Amino acid sequence: MFDSRTYAARRKRLRRDLGSGVALFLGNDESPMNYTANGYPFRQDSSFLYFFGLDTPGLAGIVDVDEGKDILFGDDIDIEDIIWMGFLPTVKERAAEVGVKETRPAKALTAYLQDALAKGRMVHLLPPYRAEHRLKLQDCLGVPPAEAKARASQAFIKAVVAQRSVKSEAEVAEIETALMTTCKMYETAMHMAQPGVYEHSIAGRINGIAMADGGANAFPTILTINGQILHNHGYTNKLAKGRLMVVDSGAESALHYASDITRTIPVGGKFTARQKDIYEIVLAANLGAIRFAKPGLPYKEVHLLASRIIVDGLMDVGLMKGNSDDAIAQGAHALFFPHGLGHMMGLDVHDMENLGENNVGYDQSVERSRQFGLAYLRMARPLRPGHVMTVEPGIYFIPALIDLWRAEKKALDFVAYDKLEAYRGFGGVRIEDDILVTQDGVRVLGRPIPKTAAQVEAASTV
Ligand code: GLY
Repeated sequence: MFDSRTYAARRKRLRRDLGSGVALFLGNDESPMNYTANGYPFRQDSSFLYFFGLDTPGLAGIVDVDEGKDILFGDDIDIEDIIWMGFLPTVKERAAEVGVKETRPAKALTAYLQDALAKGRMVHLLPPYRAEHRLKLQDCLGVPPAEAKARASQAFIKAVVAQRSVKSEAEVAEIETALMTTCKMYETAMHMAQPGVYEHSIAGRINGIAMADGGANAFPTILTINGQILHNHGYTNKLAKGRLMVVDSGAESALHYASDITRTIPVGGKFTARQKDIYEIVLAANLGAIRFAKPGLPYKEVHLLASRIIVDGLMDVGLMKGNSDDAIAQGAHALFFPHGLGHMMGLDVHDMENLGENNVGYDQSVERSRQFGLAYLRMARPLRPGHVMTVEPGIYFIPALIDLWRAEKKALDFVAYDKLEAYRGFGGVRIEDDILVTQDGVRVLGRPIPKTAAQVEAASTV
């Protein structure tokens, strides 16, 4: 974990930003898979980690703004826990590591919150995303589980988002540590992308690298020859020459900071001419967006710049037609690029997504679009120094979407539907990097991972 002063300073700023009330952070508990003692790997809540730093289950934190103090709630382990799980310092000792002076038993949380309510004080909650948190909120505060999300405090969400959005140097260093691991994952994936190899063989190997480096996957690896399925989590296909393999994966550092990279690899190390054409367009969109991004610029503008490069490129290869301004204004490119350019990244790969995409990626200066494609953009607001973003344009040939648009006669002025027939089995291409917004531009984080067509071909030729 970071120095205790880091966590104390974060909580101090939270007290200042919130102004009054009691802010509750529920840490995560163990989560059973198929019986109680057989749990999913433990993952601490990211906001709890950010403000209280402790990476063990069964804890809750209070930042009492009115009384100017922080309290950690949790129970010391007993001899049975020590026998089965090993030794853990006392709650008091662990609290001291993150600069918290006061501790209380876990069961005292309800009384503390009830007392605050009885005195007419505001109890600030974050939106829960785990069922057991909804039940805890019911027990402690009488909030019905179905209403727990709506009961979240907008002021608390905003204060947490304000701090977590801007990464410190130490946080960026953690992200770059995670990227070192991710770089190794891609070297291995590219080397293994040969005809006859199964997707699961490669996924297993690269996921193992994340674990072998002392972390974990930041999210379930996407590794597929069906790259047109954006979040494909199956790994049953055998690679064949002529196919593209999309790998979208990332590791967490030991402190749980994420990385998120995508590369598209020609099976057997050689792009076909048609694949290369599409690859070069996506690469141009990725590079163009990175060159364009800078502090003060709304990320929506960067998304639209990437969309323009994609439209121009698709016009060059004859898959789109007409006026590119009109095509973009009407969202015709979303047939090929139906997702947003990127999202914030930090302790969560989609950083703070559970606090509400609009709270994280939008502000009063930019409203969420309702247009298909643009509506999925997770981050649209102006960039600021310290933001860490993904830049992940893609072009996909999604047969069901093409058929639907064609049947609905959508974008007839802009899409060369007849030419698309030949691309039905193409799959997709996505190229993703992680960037830090600096004072005057951006910096691509991590060690370079093969990215140009020639580099990817060289890395995937055995
Ligand atoms: N890397 C997966 C995603 O951004 O959704």
